[in-house]
Amino acid sequence: MTVVERPTDKPQVEGDDESDVHPDDRGWVIDCLQRLRDLAPVETELSEIPLPPRLNGLRLYIKREAEQPSGSHKHRLAAALLTHALVNGWLVEGRPVVEASSGSTAISEAWYCQRLGIPFYAVVPDTTAPEKQELITRYGGTVVPVSGDIVTYARRVAHRYGGHFMDQFTYAERAYDWRGEEGLAAELLRAVPDLTWFVMGAGTGGTAAAVARHARYTGSGLRVCVPDPEHSAYFDGWYWRDSAVTDKGSHIEGIGRPRVEASFVPTTVNRMIRVHDAASVATMRVLDESDWDIQPGPSTGTGVFGAIRVLLGMRDSGQSGSVATLLCDPAERYTDEYYDDDWCHRQGIVFQPWMPTIRDFFRTGEWSPPETVTTVPRPLNSLWNM
Ligand SMILES: Cc1ncc(COP(=O)(O)O)c(C=O)c1O
Repeated sequence: MTVVERPTDKPQVEGDDESDVHPDDRGWVIDCLQRLRDLAPVETELSEIPLPPRLNGLRLYIKREAEQPSGSHKHRLAAALLTHALVNGWLVEGRPVVEASSGSTAISEAWYCQRLGIPFYAVVPDTTAPEKQELITRYGGTVVPVSGDIVTYARRVAHRYGGHFMDQFTYAERAYDWRGEEGLAAELLRAVPDLTWFVMGAGTGGTAAAVARHARYTGSGLRVCVPDPEHSAYFDGWYWRDSAVTDKGSHIEGIGRPRVEASFVPTTVNRMIRVHDAASVATMRVLDESDWDIQPGPSTGTGVFGAIRVLLGMRDSGQSGSVATLLCDPAERYTDEYYDDDWCHRQGIVFQPWMPTIRDFFRTGEWSPPETVTTVPRPLNSLWNM
């Protein structure tokens, strides 16, 4: 047997070495963790969306996560990822945090990093809406726009500046504290103890996994449904139990991915629904025009569309119960995109035929989807990330 010498110039001291390879900056870490506790995400309001009498016995709720201080449910993820990185000893005082993101996650991480005095870099696709880049910069972050794969670039930026790549797509599901009494699922189940379904699209998949785990852990019967946009790999990955599935990537900002990310935990998802981009955008716009004080982004449209499909299924099988989804982020981040008719037209999102379908559902409980659903080829340079 050949014995391979370890390439080290440190003396081997009988396997007992208080190493300086992994510095433990305990005072700074404790201080940051205390500040994170002081800045904990807020308990957001749960509103009921009125349903017509034909859906008697059924209830629809929307949790207003856009009320979080950095404007989306990613406020919870940013706090969780920073906590996880700090307790793991991954962050070093004065060194930056780097994230691959084009939206909500980067904005929320920038918000927290500014308050913790941690430099922050967001590697974003160069197509990212200026409103979002502006928010990241307003919270003290540095925006690095790139035309290639943002994850690869984020790794390089982290290496270049001696920082830490946060990697939400890998760590979201394990960073969330799904056992605790403070998280999203606990808040939902405190408000509606017999909640039947939680419906939400998957970006990292971390929120869906955390809610599902909390439900199982606390003995709730709550089930999780993930509506998935066109050209996301998640539906097929889930259906075929194949994590190697890939697709072109979603066109609904924040949800759907070109590959099955490590944070998506298929076994925690009870049901998935494919949703046309046009249906997501129409639902978003019907919510916005309603008098329910809901001004959502497109992923909320996908979530509410999924919730409608779940409610229709419950009605048809004579069940009663309640369904909840999230107001993920606000309309104001998408004024020049999904709320702009010309932009939608250029992207091939023909949402108009779906508008009467969604309006009729909320007015009468009738469900009559458009007879022909046009799918138009999409420009390949506008795949959305997070
Ligand atoms: C606007 C928006 N909606 C929904 C999601 C999905 O959340 P999750 O990453 O927990 O799956 C994201 C994720 O970034 C998002 O930005």
